[in-house]
Amino acid sequence: MRRNCLANLADQSPAILPSMLLCDFGRLADEIDRLKDAGTQVLHLDVMDGVFVPNFTYGMTIVDAVRRLTDMVIDVHLMMVNPEKYIQQFYAAGSDIITIHAEAVEDARPVLDRIKELGAGAGIAINPPTPVSAIAESLPHADMALVMSVNAGFGGQKFDDAVLEKLTEIRALPGGSEILLEMDGGINPETIKKCTDAGAQLLVAGSAVFKQDDYGAAIKSMLGRVNA
Ligand code: DX5
Ligand code: ZN
Repeated sequence: MRRNCLANLADQSPAILPSMLLCDFGRLADEIDRLKDAGTQVLHLDVMDGVFVPNFTYGMTIVDAVRRLTDMVIDVHLMMVNPEKYIQQFYAAGSDIITIHAEAVEDARPVLDRIKELGAGAGIAINPPTPVSAIAESLPHADMALVMSVNAGFGGQKFDDAVLEKLTEIRALPGGSEILLEMDGGINPETIKKCTDAGAQLLVAGSAVFKQDDYGAAIKSMLGRVNA
């Protein structure tokens, strides 16, 4: 799959990407089966290092475990310092898309180029306080831009409307017209339509999926709002 999954994703958008942060890791295979049955095509994995963000999750061993359980696209969101040191290992573990934070590197361009050289899709993320200008030069090197709608670090936070205009700003920049637009944080049936109306194609959802008993119904209810 790897980098050539991106064209398919653009065609299938809007798509809901469950964030595995809130899944039951003691029943990982069941969780993945349930998500597959719910129509999921892409899983979002949040890697946090306790330094870039004040929270700690998991690393490449979990990416590898998920990879062995499914052929769904694996979208890895690296919330860590020095991501360049670990890109190769995250790729080897089975990541299809690898996203780094603009705030975590001095120059994102060589890191994005390296991700693409390896064969994965390359994403560049910005937290709510970071302006789009911070990624302007990186966009031509990226396949995807991730606009965070909460500060990276925790699930269950409130959606920040102020970030919506960033999607239009990105589209207007060199390299921005072709890029996949992903949004992450606080996405639920009440907030999803403003994201898609603003141009978001990939919508990450943690609480809105995993806090519901029926994942399929949760995803359907969000997509239903988009088309309403
Ligand atoms: C936050 C993570 C998100 C998060 C989304 O730092 O990047 O992917 O898990 O969770 P919700 O949908 O609950 O905001
Ligand atoms: Zn995320």
